Amino acid sequence: MCADQVRDQYEEFPYPTRDPADERRRLITGSPSHLAEINHYIFGGRLDFAQPFRALIAGGGTGDAAIMLAQHLSDADVPAEVVYLDLSTASRAITEARAKARGLSNIAFYTGSLLDLGHFGEFDYIDCCGVLHHLPVPQEGFASLARALKPNGGLGLMVYGELGRTGVYDAQAMLRDLTREGESGADKVALAHKLLAALPPSNRLRRNPLIGDHLSTDAGLYDLLLHSQDRAYRVPDLVAEIETAGMRVASFIEPSRYDPALYLHDKAVLQRLDRMGLEDRAGFAELLAGNMKKHIVYCVRRENEAETVAAPKGPGAIPVLRDAPGPEFAKNMPPGAAFTASLDGLEFSMPLPPLARDILLLCDGNHSLDEIRKSLPGAPDWFRFKPQFDAVYKALNGFNKMLLRFPVN
Ligand SMILES: C[S@@+](CC[C@H](N)C(=O)[O-])C[C@H]1O[C@@H](n2cnc3c(N)ncnc32)[C@H](O)[C@@H]1O
Repeated sequence: MCADQVRDQYEEFPYPTRDPADERRRLITGSPSHLAEINHYIFGGRLDFAQPFRALIAGGGTGDAAIMLAQHLSDADVPAEVVYLDLSTASRAITEARAKARGLSNIAFYTGSLLDLGHFGEFDYIDCCGVLHHLPVPQEGFASLARALKPNGGLGLMVYGELGRTGVYDAQAMLRDLTREGESGADKVALAHKLLAALPPSNRLRRNPLIGDHLSTDAGLYDLLLHSQDRAYRVPDLVAEIETAGMRVASFIEPSRYDPALYLHDKAVLQRLDRMGLEDRAGFAELLAGNMKKHIVYCVRRENEAETVAAPKGPGAIPVLRDAPGPEFAKNMPPGAAFTASLDGLEFSMPLPPLARDILLLCDGNHSLDEIRKSLPGAPDWFRFKPQFDAVYKALNGFNKMLLRFPVN
């Protein structure tokens, strides 16, 4: 019953709203499932792009992840297959039109449930963004995805975060009281608009500046406030789902956001958290920040003991700027500038070392640390260069701006 309602919703309101004609002017990129992230967080930066690669986009919706990943794989000449799967034929039609507009031929389209993956074979990577929290029993979804992974494969997930969605579930509850069974989607949306217009200033949704999906499109409003099946996670609940499915967290995105040290600077206070592992620190950071409306996480199989997250360990590491090549990133940066970032209402300014701008100007995604070092003015020795690179890396990787890859023989 619930699965039918969810399918019917996305048949009527494919989400997010996308126009295939827009593919001519831009590629939508994001997390999870940017190819440079998959390589960095799941394959330790050592993915061999000459080898066949299979990805599943589970609950692919209107296509953002499928189109981005298929385009990245095509640009990198990877012999790849991206399998798109969704319950909604309307969403699939939009994604197919987007793929056609780009001339992408590496996506195979299927209509069906991610709970039924038996005949699809195994995948190197699975994207599941904004879907698991809509399943009647999310753990069945986590388990189904985990079963479909190759031994060294990984998942990129996004689920709603409870604290940042303050007020959303109040509005959902009120709308459940107000709407009638069998009422059309359009009538429910009209009713929701009336309720929203009457929210008093003290209402928790109205007071939450982080939530705005209901203000742009009807599909956004329906997805946010009229969903028939929707839950949100705190970090410990999410980690429990991941671990029950036989997986472990490789990294949260953005990594610094899930580290209490981004917010707390008192050494004595921080020291008390020293013994906590990645997951517990993430749970602490979530309570501290209070603004996480979604959680993005890369996971690998528990028995995969490899260092799946790339680290800037040797001169051969190649830094890759995620959004724009280093020279573009650095060109408007005055010498001595800090790196600034803003995350859902919080502003951060990270000091950068003196060589930062010169280093970034050389980070074109093709040159190794040693090559960058040698091209710097005065070619500093490794011991002068590396701490400065590490400081740049810590600031930028913490906000998921800089990733790494290694040459593969
Ligand atoms: C909020 S949309 C997210 C779409 C897309 N992943 C994105 O991030 O833009 C959720 C999508 O999950 C699909 N969905 C929900 N339950 C599903 C299931 N059991 N199997 C496959 N798709 C499902 C819906 O049809 C819908 O298109």
